[in-house]
Amino acid sequence: MDISVEKSKSLKGQLTIPADKSISHRAAMFASLTGGSVRINNYSLGADCKSTLEIIKTLGSRVEFLDETTVLIDSSDAYKNGLYRLDCGNSGTSMRLFSGILASRELEATLYGDQSLSKRPMKRVITPLELMGAKIKHSKYCAPLVIKGDELYPIDYRSQLASAQVKSCVLLAGLNTVGLTKFSEPFKSRDHTERLLEYMGADIMVEGLTCKIQKSRLIPRELSVCGDISSAAFFLVAATIVPDSDIILKNVGLNSTRTGIIDVMQKMGARLEILESKSVCNELVGDIRVQYSELVGVEIGGEIIPRLIDELPVIAVLASRASGSTIVRDAADLRNKESDRIKCLVSELQKIGVNISETTDGFVVHGKSKIDGGCHVECYHDHRLAMSLYVAGLVAESKVTIRDFQWVDISFPEFLRFMYQLQS
Ligand code: S3P
Repeated sequence: MDISVEKSKSLKGQLTIPADKSISHRAAMFASLTGGSVRINNYSLGADCKSTLEIIKTLGSRVEFLDETTVLIDSSDAYKNGLYRLDCGNSGTSMRLFSGILASRELEATLYGDQSLSKRPMKRVITPLELMGAKIKHSKYCAPLVIKGDELYPIDYRSQLASAQVKSCVLLAGLNTVGLTKFSEPFKSRDHTERLLEYMGADIMVEGLTCKIQKSRLIPRELSVCGDISSAAFFLVAATIVPDSDIILKNVGLNSTRTGIIDVMQKMGARLEILESKSVCNELVGDIRVQYSELVGVEIGGEIIPRLIDELPVIAVLASRASGSTIVRDAADLRNKESDRIKCLVSELQKIGVNISETTDGFVVHGKSKIDGGCHVECYHDHRLAMSLYVAGLVAESKVTIRDFQWVDISFPEFLRFMYQLQS
């Protein structure tokens, strides 16, 4: 499905941001480990989170939708010994986290995915799991992964990567392993796993950049998922660059391991205000007001990168409207996402007329007041590129057409409806 976007009039109104993808995955996975019945409120409608639900179903949980976004998971019959084929679709989080869950259980499972996922690096999770004694077959460290689960040994693992998926994989293997499993990372990555495991009664401790976990049983508790700041990001940027906009985004997750985009926007001069916040299931949640403003370029690198890794494509769009240059460095792992997000982002934004160039570990944007548009662009089967290009189209002089826009369904099927609502 191709979608065209034209220069927009001001965005106005209020949106309740749909469920966080990372937290939805974890809520369903951890619910499936309780051996009891767990109600999850506000589960993500994205295709990735559906893949996770299908996987826990195949592994023996009963999954029942009470309404569109409320799901009841009964795991009294889950994780029985057997042979399983588990389709992760496009979802890296499903593949990497389930690797950790399955490696320590008495069963054999093949985790496979679509073309894009089959090319993504899995060595980052295979290496620590093998150190724990896991038996995993793979082809050149890519999916499909065939996991023959068994009892594992605890390890003290120092990761070179600040990756929440790697951290979560090791912690989930440690959750079912006798002894103390330790994991350290160079910078803090998103900590939803630690928070939710703690909320569900796991024996987990976090000291700075190190987490420690012991074998534990999870308690079945009702869970509620907050809105996804990575989905909110498209509207934060859109309202900041479309003149005269003023919007409120409600129920946005404000976990400090995810709010790098807010810090960067404030540094660039954006008019952004947190209106109210509270804690829901061990996660900070709040409402954000954002208004149009003039921006200046900034440098982005180091510890902030994992706190805004998924927002870098839309931050490039933001930077294209700033005065001066924005330099993004230390973000080489962007090349290992649903697409090579550095190469693909730069090539498509250049087509629209943005002054952006690729570096080995990031990109440089020279902001300017006009973006031409008037062309077709590709999203390379990547949901975040599709939505970032749409936001760029809102300020382009002529129409931009994005090919295969249906890829937004991976994380944010409501995106267009929400955008039209702010334009009406
Ligand atoms: C995620 C972690 C990040 C992020 C991805 C979701 C998670 O990946 O990019 O969209 O839910 O743990 P990495 O762990 O590879 O950085």
